[in-house]
Order: sequence, then structure tokens, then C-alpha cells
Amino acid sequence: MAEPTVIRTARPEDHARITAVADAWWGRPVTGILPRLFLDHFHPSSLVADAGEDLAGFVIGFFSPGDGRTAYIHFTGVAPDQRRTGLARELYRRFFALAKADGRTRVHAVTAPFNTGSIAFHTAMGFTASDPVPDYDGPGLDRVRFERPL
Ligand SMILES: CC(C)(COP(=O)(O)OP(=O)(O)OC[C@H]1O[C@@H](n2cnc3c(N)ncnc32)[C@H](O)[C@@H]1OP(=O)(O)O)[C@@H](O)C(=O)NCCC(=O)NCCS
Repeated sequence: MAEPTVIRTARPEDHARITAVADAWWGRPVTGILPRLFLDHFHPSSLVADAGEDLAGFVIGFFSPGDGRTAYIHFTGVAPDQRRTGLARELYRRFFALAKADGRTRVHAVTAPFNTGSIAFHTAMGFTASDPVPDYDGPGLDRVRFERPL
């Protein structure tokens, strides 16, 4: 029988578990997007979903130190065999609740313009998606910017 999925606050040691699966989950090299610092320093505002010993999903986010209104979601993934079950929706729901409790009034995120699954998911979660912003993250690194009020 499948193990039940349990969502909990992330821990620094989750970095190794996430980077062990991220490239396979995305189907392209993405590990460099998640340096260890994100888990070392932002684990209290990040969430992990476990299915027994296995990682089922995660949301890595933080409450912006530079903009007191904003919470930011940096990296989100769900295991391929757990997708379209509402897991990312639940992880986001819990992140939104934490951000609101911290006094944040909006959430930001970005994605690559070719990541149509991410754009569809964020739109379904109530985010407004910008047109692709050329060179947003540097030369040739265009991004779609998401914003959602809390
Ligand atoms: C994007 C991702 C996190 C969504 O996770 P998920 O758990 O499958 O999402 P949910 O089941 O909670 O979906 C909620 C809603 O979002 C929308 N949605 C999610 N994935 C979608 C997709 N691939 N295409 C179209 N709509 C999608 C749907 O409206 C869905 O509701 P429905 O299933 O009732 O129709 C997952 O597909 C993933 O890990 N993708 C690879 C990594 C990635 O691109 N991450 C995001 C950028 S950092």
C-alpha cells in the first residue's frame, strides 16, 4: 500500500534529498538553482512532503528581508508519480498561511518562459503571470514573473 504523504517544516539536511532527485523530476539540470544556503537559512519557511522514506514534494520559500510586504517562492517540485493529486496546491496553501502569519501581503515567484507546467500551475493558484521579461536574471535568462496577493 502507498505510504501516506506527510507535510512538515523543512530541515537543513533536506538539501541533499532534494538535490538527489531534482534533475530527474525536472527532466533537465536544475540542481544549481538550489544552493545549500536555501535550506541552511530558509528551512523554517520551507515545507517538505514525505511519503514514508521517499521525498514526495517540497516548496522552498522565504519572507523577504528586503521587502516586508513580500514572500518569495524560489523552488517547488512534486515527484512525477505524485503530480496532479493536489500536493503542490496544499504545499502552497500552507506556505501562504505562514506568510500571512508573518504579515506578508503578496507572494512572488519566477519561472522560465518554456516551463508551461509551472505557468499553468501558478495561474491555477491565483498568480498573475507577466509576459516573459527579457534578460530578467541576466543575459539570455528571460523569466515570467508571478504575483499573487495574500
Ligand atoms: C508544477 C508542479 C510543482 C505542480 O505540482 P502538482 O502537485 O502536480 O500540482 P497540483 O496537483 O497541486 O495542481 C494544482 C492545479 O494546478 C494546475 N496544474 C498543475 N500542473 C499542471 C500542468 N502540468 N499542466 C496544466 N495545469 C497544471 C491544475 O489546474 C491543477 O489542478 P487540477 O489537477 O485539479 O486540474 C509539478 O508539475 C512539478 O514538480 N513540475 C516540475 C518542476 C517544476 O516545474 N516546478 C515549478 C517551477 S520551480
